[in-house]
This record gives sequence, C-alpha cells and structure tokens, in this order.
Amino acid sequence: VYEQKADSILKLMTLEEKIGQLSLFTSDWDVTGPVINNNYKQLIKEGKAGAIFNAFSVDYVRSLQKVAVEESRLKIPLLFGYDVIHGHKTIFPIPLAQSCTWDMESIEKSERIAASEATAEGINWTFSPMVDISRDPRWGRVMEGSGEDVWLGSSIAAARVKGFQGDNLADPNTLLACVKHFAAYGAPEAGRDYNTVDMSQQSLFENYLPPYKAAIDAGVGSVMTSFNEIAGTPSTSNPWLLNELLRKKWGFKGLVVTDYTSINELIPHGVATDSAEAGMLAINAGVDMDMQGNIYNRHLIQLVKQQKVSKETIDNAVMRILVAKFKLGLFADPYRYCSNQREKTEVLTIENIAFARKFASKSCVLLKNQNQLLPLPITLNSVAVIGPLADAKQDMLGSWSAAGDGKRCISLLEGLKNTLNSETKIAYEIGCAVNDQSTAGFAKAVAAARGAQVVILALGETRDMSGEAASRSTISLPGVQQQLAEAIIKANPKTVVVLFNGRPLAIPELDSIAPAILETWFGGTEAGNGVADVLLGKYNPSGKLTMTFPRNVGQIPIYYNHKNTGRPIDPSKVEKYKSKYLDIANTPLYPFGYGLSYTTFDYSNAVLDKYEYTAEDTIVVRISVMNSGKFDGEEVVQLYVHDLVGEVTRPVKELKGFSKVLIPAGGSTTVTFKLTANDLRYYHSNMDYKFDPGQFEILVGTNSDQTKKVNFSIK
Ligand code: IFM
Repeated sequence: VYEQKADSILKLMTLEEKIGQLSLFTSDWDVTGPVINNNYKQLIKEGKAGAIFNAFSVDYVRSLQKVAVEESRLKIPLLFGYDVIHGHKTIFPIPLAQSCTWDMESIEKSERIAASEATAEGINWTFSPMVDISRDPRWGRVMEGSGEDVWLGSSIAAARVKGFQGDNLADPNTLLACVKHFAAYGAPEAGRDYNTVDMSQQSLFENYLPPYKAAIDAGVGSVMTSFNEIAGTPSTSNPWLLNELLRKKWGFKGLVVTDYTSINELIPHGVATDSAEAGMLAINAGVDMDMQGNIYNRHLIQLVKQQKVSKETIDNAVMRILVAKFKLGLFADPYRYCSNQREKTEVLTIENIAFARKFASKSCVLLKNQNQLLPLPITLNSVAVIGPLADAKQDMLGSWSAAGDGKRCISLLEGLKNTLNSETKIAYEIGCAVNDQSTAGFAKAVAAARGAQVVILALGETRDMSGEAASRSTISLPGVQQQLAEAIIKANPKTVVVLFNGRPLAIPELDSIAPAILETWFGGTEAGNGVADVLLGKYNPSGKLTMTFPRNVGQIPIYYNHKNTGRPIDPSKVEKYKSKYLDIANTPLYPFGYGLSYTTFDYSNAVLDKYEYTAEDTIVVRISVMNSGKFDGEEVVQLYVHDLVGEVTRPVKELKGFSKVLIPAGGSTTVTFKLTANDLRYYHSNMDYKFDPGQFEILVGTNSDQTKKVNFSIK
C-alpha cells in the first residue's frame, strides 16, 4: 500500500525533483565529517534535498520541515537523520560497554529510550546500529560496536533495531534505524580508520556479515555503506554487495544511504576519474541516497540523458525513500515528530536517568580483585580519589554522544560523594593529565594516597581518543599514567584502579601491580553514580568482555575464535618450531567473555542428553552453576562449540549461546542450552553453507578460556 501511494507521488515528479529526493545534507549545527558549505535551506526550497541530518530540537526541525512542505513545489516532507548512537540527551554507556552486559533486554530498552528522546526533538531517522565486528583494538570505532564476536554481535544488532523501530514506524516514539557500515568496516588493515579491507569470502561471510543480516531480518529500514573497499571494490560502488547480496539474496527492501561524502571518495579510492563517474558507479551499484556529497544533484540528470543511468534506476531509488517517509507517517503529518510538549516532558526524565545509572553499573567489567579489596565499605573513613579521569565530566559521554551534555554528566568523584556516607573524608588530586608527560602533580597525589584508608585511581583515555578517525598505534595507558599508578600503589597498596576508555587497552604492567581493576568504559550521563554503585557494593559486577585485551599491540589481531594452525603450541612444553612469539605468550591479558564478580561461581556436571545425534535431533546441554560466595550475583554462562574436523579449518571455539542468570549466595541452578545441526553450519570451500557430520566439542564456562568440555558426534 505504501508503494502505491509512493508511486502516485512519483508520477507527479520531474526528473530533477526525483534526484532531489536522493540527496541528504547536513545542517550547520553539528559536524560529523569534512565541512562542505551547502546552502541547504535553499536546496530544500528547490526540492533538491530529500533529507537533512545533524538538525534537532523541535523549533529548528519544524522550521526546516516548513520550508519543505510549504515552499517546495511538491511539498514532500524531509527525513531528519542524526547519529543517535548511545542515547540522545540521556547518554548511556558506549555501545562496546553495553555489549559487555550481555543483556539484550537492557540494550533494547536503551534504544527505546533513545528513540523516544530523539523523536521528541524532531528526529525521525538514526544512523544506528553500528554492527561492525572488529578484532583490532587500535581501531577507534570499536567503542561504537559490540566487540569481536559475530554471534553475540548479531543478537545485539537485532535488539537494537527492535528498540529503535518498535513494531510501528509511524508511532511518533519510534525511529527509522540504519544498520552500518555495510560492509566489514571493522576490519581495516592495521586498525587505521578508513583503511583497506581485504579478506577471504569465508571470513567475510562467517565473521563479518551476519550482524548486518540480523539487523535486516529484524526489519531495519535503512543501510549505510562503509567507507572502505573490500577486495578492491569500495562498498559505495559495489553492485555485488548492494544489489546482489543485500537486495536480491537477503531481500532488503529499504533505502541505502552512503556514509559522509563516500561517493566523492570513489575518486581518491581510484575507481572513478571524476565526480560524474563516481555518481554513476554509486547509483548503478544500488546507492539510493548521497550523504553530503552533492554528486547526485550535480550529475544524475546528465547521466540519465547520456543513458549511463536508467530512469528506472532513479525511480526505484526515489520509491524507497518515499516509502520510508510514508512508513514514518510523514505524509500524513510532516510535523509528527515536532511536539514542543514532548520535548519538554520526555527528555532526560527521572526514569531515563535512573535507567542510565543502572546500565552504567551493568556495563562495568571487574578485571581483577585481589583479596576481595572490592566492594569498598560505604562507611569508609577516608578515601583519596586520584587521577586524570577522577573528576572528568565531558569524557564520561564517550565519543558519538549525540546531543549529550557533558555538564550534565556525573563524574566519578561526584558519584562517590553522592553514594558514600557523608562522614567519609574525600581527598581529590588529579596527579597528571591523560596525555601528560610531566610528573609534577605526583607529589600531592602520593601524599593524598598515603593519608587515605583506600585509593580510587581513575586512569584511561579521553573520549576523543576513540571513535571515528581516532585510531592509535599503541594502546597502553597514555602519558605518564602508568608511572602515576606505580607511585600511588607504592604509597598505598589498597588502591583500586578504575579505567575509563573506549577500547581494550594493553596494560600488563598495570595488571601486575594493581590489586583491583574495574573497567568502566565511558558510562554516559550517569557514569559516576553507576560506577560508585559498583565500587561500593550496591551493584555486584556482572559484565563480561566482548573484546579480547591483548598483552601488547604485537599480538593484534587477537581474538578468541582463532584457528588452531598446523603447529599449535603445547603450553606445557618449550618447542622451537611452533606458532608462537619469542618475546610474549600467545594468550591475551584478559580473554573474551572474561569478567569477575564479588561472588564466585562453580561449574560442574556438564552433560548432554545423549552423545550421538542425527542431523534432525536437538542437542541438549546442561550445566550446574553454584554461587559459592557471599553475594547474590549474576553470571553469564557461555556455550562454545568446536567442530573437530571440517572440510575447511574451523575455529578452536565459537560462541553459540549464553544465559545470564541471577543466583543467590549459596544457591545453584542448572542452565540448559539447545542446539541443532543448523548451529553447526559453516562456509565450505565452494561457499556452501552447511554442517558436516562428525565429532564436536561443547565448551561451557565462565569465559572463553575457562570451560568444561563434553564431546558428541552427529551421524
Ligand atoms: O553516521 C556517521 C558515520 O557513522 C560516520 N560518518 C559520518 C556519519 C554521519 O554523521
């Protein structure tokens, strides 16, 4: 029905007006790419813009929409896009942190809230979810994804789409989502943003594509192409990727938009001589909308006249954009997302803030806790809060924090003040800045540490050290922070290190001296309160890493689901001709799935319902998990599969299920997983996706490295 309606509008449009619908321009409110000065208001009036991004707040959006629906000839309403990535005004933990909760319900709910706040401020389209799998923590955009695992990443992709879009896009509280960056943007060589991507077809299909597909299966309305090339073809000019795979094979019916000036970038990529050729390649490859490049507006008319682009190709692209506008209800009411009342009452509400606090706690991952130093008693006499991030507010937002306001963020120091008893004496010293090369501030910090019962030392990165165009070639603690940690821990061994960062860090030196380390990422608006709740035992940490922490950058790429090689090491032996380093272990500092709790969980009795299956059977796995400690706690029970012999080599383990369970202190539970042969499929050398009968191992445990094993076979 939307198609019919869109078609009736299409019939009224001139070629120029059709092409206008295919252009997306940024307003001058925000900058998320190279600055190109386009007179977007004039373009709207002339019917040469189908959508605007980086514009929000009801009055402003209304003023632009008014130009479109009152001053342009056909009065077609605009889409309003924005990067609503981890909250709109109430900022939630960065997506990588959220993924560490393994909590699909909370992730979906956070997007529900983000959608309701964003739509209350005029936005109807978000450039999210970002589902790029990455095995390289040097890449700054890992903060925006869900880590290294394809199975978990796919579940999270679906949850995010459901959260944003709900069941009905015309509901004024829901946003059109846009899965990005299609495809494999998370695998740039050497972790350098925008760099070349090149990999086998098997790896592309097995390790990178499934989360995009999961988003499409969940009904995502739009797709953004990635900046990178794959095997020599940039995504924005790749007809196999967009027309064949995405549309024909996967059945995607929505609209495809480029990333910022990606069509223009086909020239430096070296596949187009000029912008006209770039435009021709993009539209013929299946790109509907040109983000900020102003290429379609300038060249498509001529390209149609020259018969280099067919009218049908243009019509199909316009139809997809008009249908999205119909689905959002914009033709029925172009101001559907422009309620001054909602803007006043639905943004930064008490409920949203309370959820953000809890979500910040849930995202923390306890990396080390020697002698149960944590949780700290709420009745502490004195505490020294030290470090460059101890009173940071703006940084708590992390990168891509949309319309978030740093001044509204709770720093760790503020969170501790809010949560500790009022009698606790709190001393604060910065020690050094994040990137400082000077140790001038150490003396005061050391004195504060000496005089306190315990020290909370906040170290890490600034928010702009991760995100877009923020790759690092070293991922240790910046500046003199490691030296600060050494000085403080020497002065007071009761030191808890709290990390704020947007990527896994290589911190073996810190790990070797700090008795307790809590990874908190960037927790958003309520970061300080949420982290204080964890430090003071109001929330028992339950987060598990979704990206491996290497010992040093030389180990990268390092990920849990690697292959065995023909010469795997035997850790109990010293042998020369094996796959290893001379100077460092093969193992990571902290593996995928790792994270401690204030309590302890004992795993026992991993059993299968039988040990020989047929292809039609359901494989039932059971394991008992006991909370053997003193605190109630949540545990993420993880299930991995190892296909022992394949037609092509298989990973040493692959995540195929998990269950997050709350177990009271002293209690125990049995966790049941069900698999079928479908879960064991993989891409063969001829790209057939099927499973092979044979021997398998099931590994169940608390992280990817500590598991109980049971074997089975399928006939
Ligand atoms: O959505 C983003 C994308 O992820 C990176 N480049 C800019 C776009 C729009 O802001």
